[in-house]
Amino acid sequence: MAVGVFDSGLGGLTVHKAIQERLPDLPLVYFGDSAHAPYGVRTADDIYELTCAATERLWQAGCDLVILACNTASAAALRRMQEKFVPADKRVLGVFVPLIEALTERQWGDNSPPREVTVKHVALFATPATVASRAFQRELAFRAIGVDVEAQPCGGVVDAIEDGDEILAEALVTSHVEALKRRMPHPEAAILGCTHYPLMQDAFQRALGPDVTVYSQASLVAESLADYLQRRPEFRGSGTETGFLTTGDPARVSTKATQFLRRRINFTAA
Ligand code: DGL
Repeated sequence: MAVGVFDSGLGGLTVHKAIQERLPDLPLVYFGDSAHAPYGVRTADDIYELTCAATERLWQAGCDLVILACNTASAAALRRMQEKFVPADKRVLGVFVPLIEALTERQWGDNSPPREVTVKHVALFATPATVASRAFQRELAFRAIGVDVEAQPCGGVVDAIEDGDEILAEALVTSHVEALKRRMPHPEAAILGCTHYPLMQDAFQRALGPDVTVYSQASLVAESLADYLQRRPEFRGSGTETGFLTTGDPARVSTKATQFLRRRINFTAA
C-alpha cells in the first residue's frame, strides 16, 4: 500500500514530510529527478516526457497513486498525462487544487460556480514554466471572481537550493519579492507555488513582511491525500517499501536533502 511522491529534485520532500506526519503508517516512495532539475526552465514537452518516465518508475515500485509534488509538472504535464498516459487502474494527482481550495475557502471537490472571496490581491511565486503556463490563474478562475494575481517567476531559486547554496537562495528570494512588490505593493496573500520554496519560507516571510499570509502546499496536499485515500482505498498500491530514489548522485543528493530537511535522508539510485 505505497504511494509515490514525485518532484524534479528536493522540493517534494516538503510535501513528503507533511504526508508522513499526517499518515505515518503509509509507505511512501519518493522520486527526485535531480539529474534533470530544474524543470522550471524546460519546455512543456520535455517536462511531460520526464514526468511520465518518473511516474512509470513509481508504478513499478508498487505505487498505483502518484502525487506530482511539483507545481511545474502539475502545470505543464498533468492534464496531458491524465488524458493520454494514465491507465484506469492508476492515478496521478497534482498539488495545485488543494492550495486553491484553501485560498478560496472551499471544501474538497466543491464544484459550485466561482464566487467572491476575502482575499483580493495575491502574489504568486513560482518557476518560469509554471508562471508561463497560467495554470494557477486558470484553476483560480474556476473558483473565485475578482482576485488580482501578480505572478513572479523566481529564476535561479531552485538551482540554488539543489546546489545547497542557502545564502544565494535567500538573496534571490529577497530580490524576487522586491520585484513583485514594485508591481503589487500590498499583497494580502502570497502563494509559494513551487514545492522547493517552503525550504526558504522564512526568507519569503521576512521579505514580504508579517502582514502577508504565506500559503504553502505541504500540509494542504497531505490533508487532501488522506481524504482521497479514505474515499478511494483501492489506490493504496501494492508496494510495501518506503524509500527515496534519485536520478542524480545518491550520496550528493542525500547530503543536500539532509541539509534542508535537517534529518538524515538516504537516497538510492533510481
Ligand atoms: N519543486 C518544483 C515545483 O514545484 C520545482 C521545479 C523545477 O525543477 O524547476 O515547481
